[in-house]
Amino acid sequence: LNRTDFPAGFIFGAASSAYQYEGAAYQDGKGSSIWDTFTSVHPEKIADHSTGDIADEFYYLFQEDIALMKEIGLDSFRFSISWSRILPKGKISEGVNQQGITFYNNLINELLYQGLQPFVTLFHWDLPQALEDEYLGFLSPNIVNDYQDYVDLCFKEFGDRVKFWVTFNEPNDFASGGYATGTEAPGRCSNYIGNCSFGNSATEPYTVGHHMLLSHAIAVKLYREKYQASQKGNIGIVLACYWMVPKFQTVASTDAAFRAIDFMLGWYLHPITFGNYPETMRLLVGNRLPTFSVSQSEMLKGSFDFLGVTYYTARYADDSTSSSSVNLSYTTDSHVNLTTEKDGLPIGQPTASGWQYVYPRGLLELLSYINRKFNQPLIYIAENGVNDNASLPIQDALDDSLRINFHHSHLSTLLKAIKAGVDVRGYFVWSFLDNFEWESGYTLRYGMTYVDYKNGLRRYVKNSALWYKNLLRKENITRRL
Ligand code: GCO
Repeated sequence: LNRTDFPAGFIFGAASSAYQYEGAAYQDGKGSSIWDTFTSVHPEKIADHSTGDIADEFYYLFQEDIALMKEIGLDSFRFSISWSRILPKGKISEGVNQQGITFYNNLINELLYQGLQPFVTLFHWDLPQALEDEYLGFLSPNIVNDYQDYVDLCFKEFGDRVKFWVTFNEPNDFASGGYATGTEAPGRCSNYIGNCSFGNSATEPYTVGHHMLLSHAIAVKLYREKYQASQKGNIGIVLACYWMVPKFQTVASTDAAFRAIDFMLGWYLHPITFGNYPETMRLLVGNRLPTFSVSQSEMLKGSFDFLGVTYYTARYADDSTSSSSVNLSYTTDSHVNLTTEKDGLPIGQPTASGWQYVYPRGLLELLSYINRKFNQPLIYIAENGVNDNASLPIQDALDDSLRINFHHSHLSTLLKAIKAGVDVRGYFVWSFLDNFEWESGYTLRYGMTYVDYKNGLRRYVKNSALWYKNLLRKENITRRL
């Protein structure tokens, strides 16, 4: 496998996010985000009671890290902007933090100087705490205006150099982790008494998702009307989906699998393609699912230049009403009928975290499904990766053949999808560095580069990074010419 197997101009990169990488959580005028609050108020919700206060100190070390990215041969680096670093109180009217603007300018300039394209996520879950305090953040329609002002500022300050914008990262995960299971910031779930999961009475995840969709559509409209002609960039969204495998060869199981995809992916992809939620969701969620006005629906339709897809794993699905043998994690409406069953899955090999089964074929299935059902969008694989156990001694961690196999098999599968006509333009590894893995803290390592948290955050390249470097060698191109 090497880079010349992929279409000309295909982008190979690696991905990250602000809270997971930057550290400097309270430095240089940055305001608090809901993740700062969540980790400090609820240490018990993080596996090792850690925070992202320091994380990888990418805020201070980005130049060295970018030098390493260049050495590995990355074409692009995906990172997110921390909203409260540039708007400490979340709103333009409350003041812009120039030091935050300077940081992102320096980061973008350094990437470009080293020959990497910045691929910029505007929202990767770290909402300014001030907006949570004032009106409960994404639960309120007020968020739409504040989000619009924030992205306007980003386009204005950085858009001369940024050609790839992502409005939201995995909104389904933000809505369910933050408002159903309560395992992620802002950790809301106590309103579903004694049961922190989507229940038949759960409204908040859908309200939050709705406001993210409206914010997304307005951001895209703004970019297209005000900036795109002069800045000549592209704007899209990043959505997550597991591939769902019917648990049994029955119609009920198959229907359940497609329903599960609707609730994970269609929740967002359907509105931004067709202007409305999937029919399954409208039926099952009923009047707890907000509705779009005609003009909102028009604004949503086609509101992306590209679709970012994050793919990690697959799950079995079955109809909860017709099967008692299946252990269902969500027996009600969200992630409908998604099983947590782990035994006897011919679905790949469990990884350190248990949630992830290695199932490359699911990537092909998922991309073919998206292509068929959603009018062949232009796609970037915005994340694909695997963790290993953080307690491995460093020498073992550097020898990460699991990760090499993972990427090799997924890239080979991706090639099949491309040959089958899916328009995929790039692939981002999650992740460049080990980093703060949300509720798992530092107990899982996803990096192609090891970070020694006990010794000054020193970086050590793992074998997977060397493998990637070999794949990306530019000589490969000239040799073929
Ligand atoms: C995301 C992901 C990342 C995770 C990765 C590994 O939403 O983009 O949650 O932030 O670190 O998926 O779990």
